[in-house]
Amino acid sequence: MRCLIRAIFNYVKHSRVVLSSVVGFSHGGSLVKNFYKKSCRRAEAIVKEVTEENVANNPNLPAKLLRMHFHDCFVRGCDGSVLLSSTESNTAEKDAVPNQSLAGFDVIDAIKEKVEKECPGIVSCADILALAARDSVTYKFKKPTWDVLTGRRDGTVSLISEALLNIPSPSSNFTKLKNTFARKGLNVHHLVVLSGGHTIGVAHCNFFSDRLYNFTGKGDQDPSLDSNYAEFLKSKCSPNDAGATTVEIDNNSSLDFDTNFYKILKENKGLFQSDAALLTNKVARNTVGELVDRDTFFKEFAQSMKTMGAIEVLTGTAGEIRNKCSAVNS
Ligand code: HEM
Ligand SMILES: *[C@@H]1O[C@H](CO)[C@@H](O)[C@H](O)[C@H]1NC(C)=O
Ligand SMILES: *[C@@H]1O[C@H](CO)[C@@H](O)[C@H](O)[C@H]1NC(C)=O
Ligand SMILES: *[C@@H]1O[C@H](CO)[C@@H](O)[C@H](O)[C@H]1NC(C)=O
Ligand SMILES: *[C@@H]1O[C@H](CO)[C@@H](O)[C@H](O)[C@H]1NC(C)=O
Ligand SMILES: *[C@@H]1O[C@H](CO)[C@@H](O)[C@H](O)[C@H]1NC(C)=O
Repeated sequence: MRCLIRAIFNYVKHSRVVLSSVVGFSHGGSLVKNFYKKSCRRAEAIVKEVTEENVANNPNLPAKLLRMHFHDCFVRGCDGSVLLSSTESNTAEKDAVPNQSLAGFDVIDAIKEKVEKECPGIVSCADILALAARDSVTYKFKKPTWDVLTGRRDGTVSLISEALLNIPSPSSNFTKLKNTFARKGLNVHHLVVLSGGHTIGVAHCNFFSDRLYNFTGKGDQDPSLDSNYAEFLKSKCSPNDAGATTVEIDNNSSLDFDTNFYKILKENKGLFQSDAALLTNKVARNTVGELVDRDTFFKEFAQSMKTMGAIEVLTGTAGEIRNKCSAVNS
């Protein structure tokens, strides 16, 4: 009898593990720390080296790779699908409108090439991207400020339509953002914390210029936007800027991974409507207030990145290990 109970218990326990790895909502799912320790001992070191060489010459790279990792995870999970190029018969995620200014693909390719030389066919592009995003952002801190679990495998599908469906629009209201994140198993806390990614990087005027010139279609300005900041943005972005000009998302501090994003957000100087929307919900607004504190932000960002990095991951024998990150294996 006891044996039977134990067997059932084990079965239930086991199936729960399997379920969580399929769904991928869990904190890390079936990913592990240093997955390549035995199979490719220097994998993580190589990613770090090549990433750091590139960041040293290009301070904008951390923002590019962080955003690319986010886009990867929100479409079909963190499976490297964002890295795939379009083919004759398929238009890939990469070519969707929200891809504007996605960059750093060459860096991922360079890392992959070096890793392949050392251990061919072992290390996934999805893991390389997750690691490189972390290593680029934390380069300045001389030590990693979040852990990246590994063991992801690469997907074989990348569709423009799925990018359009899953990548949140910068004009989203709070409800919309909450739902977009919920579909990925992320809650409001994750939403507010991960929006802190906007502490680095730049944005094209066309993603927010309606807030300056034509908010409700009557030639008006978004009343929730600080009016001095709006004037400043207008001086940068003409009404018909079709995406040629960029401004810092986190005004004054776009190269520093810090809490200034939350500080200016509270002053109604969040650049996107989707940033400002975080103030329209009481719970989210309270979280914004808490994240101004540096230690709190770093701790929470580390946790939320771990959760984001585990969205719908492919593990075990699912998917493949791509030979080149831009194309599925033939
Ligand atoms: C909450 C929903 C989000 C929306 C609506 C959103 C939207 C956008 C938009 C429109 C841009 C400007 C792109 C351009 O003009 O080139 C941008 C940039 C950026 N986003 Fe987000 N984003 C969101 C969440 C996130 C998350 C979760 C992260 C990472 C954790 C992130 C990281 C970044 C970074 C680093 C940039 C700057 C990229 C660069 O400098 O090229 N975003 N985002
Ligand atoms: C983004 O998509 C456009 C087409 O919509 C394409 O011309 C451009 O090359 C893409 N950008 C990247 C970085 O893939
Ligand atoms: C939020 O936006 C959605 C469309 O994206 C819209 O249907 C909904 O009514 C909006 N909610 C509020 C409270 O404005
Ligand atoms: C403002 O938006 C409305 C409705 O979308 C449009 O008809 C109008 O032409 C726009 N005005 C300007 C100046 O772009
Ligand atoms: C934004 O930053 C620019 C450049 O540092 C500065 O001139 C401007 O005053 C800032 N805008 C606001 C509203 O703080
Ligand atoms: C940017 O810097 C200027 C000058 O130091 C300051 O007046 C302004 O408030 C800053 N802007 C933001 C959004 O913090």
